Amino acid sequence: MKLKRLGNTGLLTSDIALGTMIFGEEGPRGTRPDDAERIIHAYLDAGGNHLDTANVYAGGRSEEVTGKAINGKRDRIILATKVNFPMGDGPNQRGLSRFNIMRAVEDSLRRLATDYIDLYYMHCWDYNTPIEESLRAFDDLVRQGKVRYIGMSNFKAWQVMKALSVSNASSLERFVAGQYQYSLVMRDIEYEFVELFDSEGIGLTPWGPLGGGFLTGKYKRGDKPEEGRIAAMEDDTEEAWHRRNTERNWAIIDVMGSIAEERGVTYSQVAVTWTRRQPTVSSVIIGVRTMEQLEDNLGAAELELSDDEIQRLNRASQLPEMYPYRFIESYSRKKVED
Ligand SMILES: NC(=O)c1ccc[n+]([C@@H]2O[C@H](COP(=O)([O-])OP(=O)(O)OC[C@H]3O[C@@H](n4cnc5c(N)ncnc54)[C@H](OP(=O)(O)O)[C@@H]3O)[C@@H](O)[C@H]2O)c1
Repeated sequence: MKLKRLGNTGLLTSDIALGTMIFGEEGPRGTRPDDAERIIHAYLDAGGNHLDTANVYAGGRSEEVTGKAINGKRDRIILATKVNFPMGDGPNQRGLSRFNIMRAVEDSLRRLATDYIDLYYMHCWDYNTPIEESLRAFDDLVRQGKVRYIGMSNFKAWQVMKALSVSNASSLERFVAGQYQYSLVMRDIEYEFVELFDSEGIGLTPWGPLGGGFLTGKYKRGDKPEEGRIAAMEDDTEEAWHRRNTERNWAIIDVMGSIAEERGVTYSQVAVTWTRRQPTVSSVIIGVRTMEQLEDNLGAAELELSDDEIQRLNRASQLPEMYPYRFIESYSRKKVED
């Protein structure tokens, strides 16, 4: 597996990370703990070094499963986890207050059976807590040696910039990684974040590279499917069938199908490789439910798509322009480059 720097840091990550969101989760979407442990070992054996979890995943069981699986292998692993979503009914068992962060990190460390976290993310913005308070708490955790690097997930662009300016002004730790949904069916982050991350030296760690499974080619045009994660998603969720079942998305599937056939690879490998290839991406976080899915998706590690193939995928999936002032944009870019 290829290695990349995590943003502007000296930390080297495999460019495919393994997500553990459904490990230990009960129900058809989840992976049983013993299977999950085998999957984690197979990923590490294949050369991966970056595991992504969160306190909220499977109510804490994902962290427990991950902690057990890495016992004896901790030193060579980049272990990432997150805080913000509710871990109980209490008003302070959620969010990015100093109160919650300080308790949540101890709970994560205990479940992960480790005494440090390599990459600690704010899982999403907290409108109830000043970002100064959250950043100071994260900075303290770095000083205490409980956290190595900090990151954010799902923030809006202004929130990232606000946080970075607070870090700069107060000499607090800066975010080095940002975790966002990014795939051929979900390219919205290109509007703001790719340039932002490039200018600020932040590494993008995309989640959902298969659009929740849509980009595996296992769903077909027509009625709502009966099997697979997307079939079970509620209508008001992002991965709901009615959001995936669009002409644009089927056009993407058609192009992926031709490339997969021409190259003798799978849809999933094409999808993961497309995301891997995008600017500022440090490590793509894949999600798998079974060992077969892991083996399939890891096939992307050695796949290179040609510029022409990437262009075909880009054309099928492109979004409307957000900043349609071509003259102004080319003028200001030229000035900078000259
Ligand atoms: N920061 C955040 O807010 C956030 C949010 C979500 C996820 N994440 C992270 O990102 C990771 C990956 O996200 P994701 O699970 O949404 O990724 P994804 O790759 O878009 O979807 C993964 C799902 O697709 C299906 N699948 C995967 N490989 C397949 C294959 N080869 N053939 C057929 N089906 C396949 C499986 O579901 P079925 O078999 O059930 O259909 C699997 O659970 C998570 O584990 C988590 O660590 C972060």
